[in-house]
Amino acid sequence: MRIIVCKNYEDMSRAAAKLVASQITLKPDCVLGFATGSTPIGLYKELCAMYGRGEIDFSAVTSFNLDEYYPIRKSNPESYDYFMKDNLFSKVNIPSENIHIPDGETEVPEIECLNYEKVIESCGGIDLQILGIGVNGHIGFNEPDINLSTKTHVTELSQSTIDANSRFFDSEDEVPRKAITMGVSTILKSKKIVLLASGKNKHAVIKELLDEKVNTNVPATLLNVHRDVTIICDEEAYYGDDI
Ligand code: F6R
Repeated sequence: MRIIVCKNYEDMSRAAAKLVASQITLKPDCVLGFATGSTPIGLYKELCAMYGRGEIDFSAVTSFNLDEYYPIRKSNPESYDYFMKDNLFSKVNIPSENIHIPDGETEVPEIECLNYEKVIESCGGIDLQILGIGVNGHIGFNEPDINLSTKTHVTELSQSTIDANSRFFDSEDEVPRKAITMGVSTILKSKKIVLLASGKNKHAVIKELLDEKVNTNVPATLLNVHRDVTIICDEEAYYGDDI
């Protein structure tokens, strides 16, 4: 596991954008895995700026998002579908038919999960997966538990995640209680993984992740078994109060 410690959020976002841009330069028809939440917003802003300057071309890129609330309308500004359009897809030239986000509107989520796995495989797997990390160590919506599901599945959000994500909704009651998420194997099958973390509230979990142990109660620690993970974090996430 490599770690790149950046001065602040802006530097972290720029460093991540450079890695994504290199991936697209090396393999223009690459498959990218995207995350949502507050952490990658700066990365998406940088990618849009690079695209605007003619530095990257998304015309052959395929994307898969990690997760989506369930159930949720795509028109809901808090849906990850809406988030991705707003922050990235409406601003770069990625073809809409190449974009994949779990369908929060489906009436048959189990079928959606099976298909999602199949489509990832039929595209040759994910070349570069971007991850954020929950304060409780979740990746995607793989919440702390004794057993973790390996493939894309429907999951219940933990109270800690509902609390953390209520900041995006008018009230906690409006946070959907379920989500469709890639499973831990879906994530670990990605060829490269880049995990972003910013802010003091992520310090404890980053420390645990760097402890080189695997513990399903901190799902991100499973990344320790992967051969190509880069953590890009800011000084607050890395040093916490010792900054
Ligand atoms: C989002 C996702 C989540 C977030 C995590 C951190 O697609 O998969 O695991 O990455 O909840 O969220 P933020 O970045 O808002 O702290």
